[in-house]
Amino acid sequence: SRDFVVLFRTNWRLLQLTSQNNRKRKQATSSGPANSTGTGNTVGPSANSPPSTPSTHTPEGLAVAGNMRHVPKNLMMYGADGTGLASSSNQMDDLEPFGDVGSLDDNVESFLSNDEGDARDIFAALKSPTEPNPPASKGFTFSEVNCWRTSNSKIVCCNFSSDGKILASAGHEKKAVLWNMETFQTQYLPEEHSLIITDVRFRPNSTQLATSSFDRTVKLWNITDPAFSQHTFTGHNYSVTSLDFHPKKTELLCSCDGNGEIRYWNVAQHSCIRVIKGGTAQIRFQPSTGQFLAAASESVVSIFDVETHTKKYTLQGHNTDVQSVCWDNTGEYLASVSQDLVKVWSVSSGECIHEVSSNGNKFHSCVFHPSYPNLLVIGGYQSLELWNMVKNQSMTVPAHDGLIASLAQSPVTGMVASASHDNSVKLWK
Ligand SMILES: *[C@@H]1O[C@H](CO)[C@@H](O)[C@H](O)[C@H]1NC(C)=O
Ligand SMILES: *[C@@H]1O[C@H](CO)[C@@H](O)[C@H](O)[C@H]1NC(C)=O
Ligand SMILES: *[C@@H]1O[C@H](CO)[C@@H](O)[C@H](O)[C@H]1NC(C)=O
Ligand SMILES: *[C@@H]1O[C@H](CO)[C@@H](O)[C@H](O)[C@H]1NC(C)=O
Ligand SMILES: *[C@@H]1O[C@H](CO)[C@@H](O)[C@H](O)[C@H]1NC(C)=O
Repeated sequence: SRDFVVLFRTNWRLLQLTSQNNRKRKQATSSGPANSTGTGNTVGPSANSPPSTPSTHTPEGLAVAGNMRHVPKNLMMYGADGTGLASSSNQMDDLEPFGDVGSLDDNVESFLSNDEGDARDIFAALKSPTEPNPPASKGFTFSEVNCWRTSNSKIVCCNFSSDGKILASAGHEKKAVLWNMETFQTQYLPEEHSLIITDVRFRPNSTQLATSSFDRTVKLWNITDPAFSQHTFTGHNYSVTSLDFHPKKTELLCSCDGNGEIRYWNVAQHSCIRVIKGGTAQIRFQPSTGQFLAAASESVVSIFDVETHTKKYTLQGHNTDVQSVCWDNTGEYLASVSQDLVKVWSVSSGECIHEVSSNGNKFHSCVFHPSYPNLLVIGGYQSLELWNMVKNQSMTVPAHDGLIASLAQSPVTGMVASASHDNSVKLWK
């Protein structure tokens, strides 16, 4: 089974020990995570090991367990019986005799919160109507819920529909796939693009979605009538690398190409409204108000005012190309990811307020956790990094066999999706 239950027992001692470990490791070698197998064993105080699953705490046990490349730092990990979320709560129950549950929760809150005083607000966010049994009292979990695999094609983009019921993903296969989050059945859209699909986004509150491609086009689809695309937008003279719908004026669609051209389209009239320069890798509208557009081009992120088309900020500080950007749900913060660095910017000041370096992993994608606003999920090579940007602490979760090219989240279901060059898409909660 490839299912793992990853329980975050983030007590302070563990975190401190781990950061010491990391420092030592960094001094010892500057290379990636490949040869760090076993360091996790030195991290956890042995008192935390549940006697029921002793083998999973050895490197041998992990090798048997599946696609693990290394023991995640800061994590206590238990081989699950393969039943996913249900076993997750069982595992949590099993854990209770082995630790002081009250203090465990305190420690989890402490990891996730801004400061000790904010913990209640963060857990209030979990008590949504869609979450009948809020995990707050049981601790924070982040485990693989499901996995879907293409036959032999890298997946490079994914996005949830507004209601969280469908995950769309696409990539080298040249046709988008719709994954139903209730039945877990998949359905392909027709193969109309002639080259790789680079981005897929749902129109907010709609059954429409759009895809962008190396074939220089953007296509509009209606998934309730999926026999063929509704429209093909042409005009880009280079590979279209990214697209996004405006969160409020949802007839407004934006796309950018490899030459830095950003095109605004009216979806209803099928017309190009405006062309500006400034985005080569990815563009994303600010959520909720849609006042700003973030555009990544080489090592710079530009923030454009969508109404006036003026540039509000030029965010500089990355040394290499910015691969992706993501906003938090409030639209106050923007994260930008280059291979070696993640920066979080405040859009009211234009300042970088938090940053974390990759320590050898190759960062590529990011998404803010749907339930924990301080937690940024970063996609790298094979592993996800869960970074509490306020506390500047992170945990590594082995996730894929290749680069994690794209991440998505649904505030409705609390689900995170990861799309990878290993030909698979995974769901996490
Ligand atoms: C999508 O297709 C359905 C079914 O044919 C139709 O009722 C709906 O109006 C279409 N929506 C759009 C935006 O074209
Ligand atoms: C598009 O590219 C071709 C060659 O690559 C060039 O001849 C043409 O002028 C370009 N068109 C525009 C509008 O930039
Ligand atoms: C999916 O794409 C839409 C439109 O581009 C965007 O508004 C929405 O935030 C995206 N969903 C997620 C969960 O990222
Ligand atoms: C989408 O639906 C939600 C919930 O009904 C609503 O709050 C939001 O304003 C809608 N967004 C748009 C762009 O219509
Ligand atoms: C965040 O943590 C990393 C590694 O633990 C450290 O190198 C970096 O200086 C810290 N950043 C801040 C702003 O404290």
